[in-house]
Amino acid sequence: MVSLEVAPCSMDAAVDALRRGELVGLPTETVYGLAADATQDDAVAQVFAAKGRPQLNPLIAHVASAEAAAELVAWPPEADRLAATHWPGPLTLVLPRRAHCPVSLLASAGLDTLAVRVPRHPVALALLSAFGRPVVAPSANRSGRISPTSASDVIAELGAAVAVVLDGGLCDVGVESTVIGLLGGPPVLLRPGGVTREAVEAVVGPLAAPSVADTLRPHSPGLSDSHYAPALPVRLNATRPQGREALLAFGDADPSGFARTLWLAAPGDGHDVVTAAARLFRLLRAADALDVERIAVSPLPDKGLGEALNDRLRRAAAER
Ligand code: TXA
Ligand code: MG
Repeated sequence: MVSLEVAPCSMDAAVDALRRGELVGLPTETVYGLAADATQDDAVAQVFAAKGRPQLNPLIAHVASAEAAAELVAWPPEADRLAATHWPGPLTLVLPRRAHCPVSLLASAGLDTLAVRVPRHPVALALLSAFGRPVVAPSANRSGRISPTSASDVIAELGAAVAVVLDGGLCDVGVESTVIGLLGGPPVLLRPGGVTREAVEAVVGPLAAPSVADTLRPHSPGLSDSHYAPALPVRLNATRPQGREALLAFGDADPSGFARTLWLAAPGDGHDVVTAAARLFRLLRAADALDVERIAVSPLPDKGLGEALNDRLRRAAAER
């Protein structure tokens, strides 16, 4: 039975479930995670199984503080500076594992590195503090599908697999964390996300793009080109309707002729990519439930959070 609540008793139930090696639906400021005790191989294996996730794709270990992260992975000065500026928050750092890192090797998917993050959602922080161990938490969707931004999305995606879902309301960032590789050499942007490129570069200087070697190794972002995919096809940079389409509209888009219009950010919201990011996955899910042939999306600016938004949309629209 899934319990959908965040009363103190459900926090205790969530901690107990993690200890028993069961899965918990966990709100974070980015998206909801499918959480498991990162130190139990069987629990981590269950995360892959529940998501139907290719085992080559490694997981993020979530912890309550930078100090806790630095116990798991090597900790260069860049990590310290990024943590001081952006943690708790939507930033993930990929670093070499320490020799006695207690996180299951399965979470690293065969790499000698581990991704670590301190989320800022109060429910996530409370759970991590109460549990006292690292927690792996990929987005709580079946592999390849739209990431969940509410507790009910988690139930719809993976209800049968989770022991407890903590309800922390709607996610306020709405796209996943930015993933930065700190592996010697210049920092690498492995996945654009909730902290903008500009905000990371202000701390550590220019970010490199992943190398060909990075993209051949099992790892972050671009590889699985199709991701975040609704059941309906998606058409990007749409300005005029083609057939019976639902429009995810932005800014000064002209919705006339579209069968339905869902505003990512309406003219009254300004050209606000922050608002659009917070709504993206929710509106993709809503549009997917409409009686239309296709989901069309207005052009979106590429600056700030727009880089992450356009990244997710390209993959939602990619060849399946
Ligand atoms: O915002 C988020 O990051 C959410 C919330 C729940 O915290 N989690 C999330 O996890 O998006 P997931 O598993 O869906 O995405 C993790 C990303 C993937 O692109 C993965 O390939 C990359 O991080 N990653 C994890 N470990 C890595 C490693 N050792 N080296 C390179 N990339 C890694
Ligand atoms: Mg994901």
